[in-house]
This record gives sequence, C-alpha cells and structure tokens, in this order.
Amino acid sequence: MLNDLFQEAWKSLNTALSENEHAFKNCSLATQNEKSGVKQRIVILRGITANNNLLFYTDLRANKIKQLKENSKSSALFYDPKNKLQVIFNGIVHIHTDSEQWEINRNNIDGNAVNNYNSFMAPGKPIKDPFSIKRTKKIHFGVLEFVPKRIEILKLRTDYNHLRARFRLVDGEWKKTYLVP
Ligand SMILES: Cc1cc2nc3c(=O)[nH]c(=O)nc-3n(C[C@H](O)[C@H](O)[C@H](O)COP(=O)(O)O)c2cc1C
Repeated sequence: MLNDLFQEAWKSLNTALSENEHAFKNCSLATQNEKSGVKQRIVILRGITANNNLLFYTDLRANKIKQLKENSKSSALFYDPKNKLQVIFNGIVHIHTDSEQWEINRNNIDGNAVNNYNSFMAPGKPIKDPFSIKRTKKIHFGVLEFVPKRIEILKLRTDYNHLRARFRLVDGEWKKTYLVP
C-alpha cells in the first residue's frame, strides 16, 4: 500500500510530462534566503531524470536563483484535485548553466518560448510599459535540477480514511512510513 502510493505519485508526475492539462504539470516551488524570506511561485515540470530528479526551467536572473545560490534547500508542492493527491517534495536544487543537462534542455526551447529568457532587463525589474519589453539575442536560460530528499504524500479518500505517508532518503534508500493524516 505504501509502495502503491509512492508509485501513484511518480506515475502521475511522469504522465504530466506528456499531458499539458495534467494537474502535476505545474507545482509551487518554494525557496528561502535571509533577504527575501520564504518565496513560492508556480513553475512547470519540464522533466524527470533517470534518477528521479525534477527539472524546471527559469531565467538565471530570477530572484529564485539568487535565493538558491544562498540556500539550495527547496520545496515543491504538487496537487491533483481530480485524484485528491498532494505530493510535497523537500530537497536541494542544482542550477545548470552550461552542463550537458543544460544543453539537452536548451535545445527543447522553441518559438516564442525563448521570450521567457531573453528580456533585456532582468525579470522582476519595474517597467512602465509591459507591451514593449526590449529583448536581446542572449538568453539567460537555466535548468533547475531538484534532488528530492523527502517526499510527503497525502491521498484524500471519500470515506475519510485518508492516506498520508512520508518517504525519506537515507543512505540512498527510501525509508517509508504512514503518518496520521
Ligand atoms: C502557469 C505558470 C507557469 C510558470 N512557469 C514558470 C517556469 O517554468 N519557470 C519560471 O521560472 N517561472 C514560471 N512562472 C512564473 C513564476 O511563477 C514567477 O512569477 C517567476 O518565475 C518569478 O519568480 P521569482 O522572482 O521568485 O524567481 C510561471 C507562472 C505561471 C502562472
């Protein structure tokens, strides 16, 4: 049963990679540093590596990058209302700027998606006119590789026998337990 829950979460995450409308396509990614405190924002799940790390894309000048450089600890929250499934990851984030991982994912960006990474001014800067953003040839594209260390899964059930479980990575193995929901 514990394993089924774990499998269900990973299956949903993998399904979301190919189904744009899947609820797990987006998650809330939280970061924290001294200056900005805790911040969270929606990001799109772009990939899952062979060793089950989560991949996200971002502009390297974004505030989340500043935070992650100071503190690589992060949390990613997914919720699928259709299946009443909540998955909360805690882990650390590696920032890829020119690795092989970066190269592979850079090649996936096509069309207008490049506009997510090529504004002349850095994301988050105040501007007067949102319809005349100056763009450059340089792209500030980065890949975030989220390495899960702890996963908490909550499955709500109509009979109120909700299932809550925690999975902790200890010496390369997932230690698992149910929790009181
Ligand atoms: C549906 C949706 C998807 C988004 N996807 C991403 C994404 O994949 N990467 C990203 O950096 N920002 C994405 N954003 C924008 C972020 O939520 C956020 O506004 C931006 O990254 C700036 O965050 P920061 O200043 O905390 O770094 C998305 C926003 C929405 C509403």
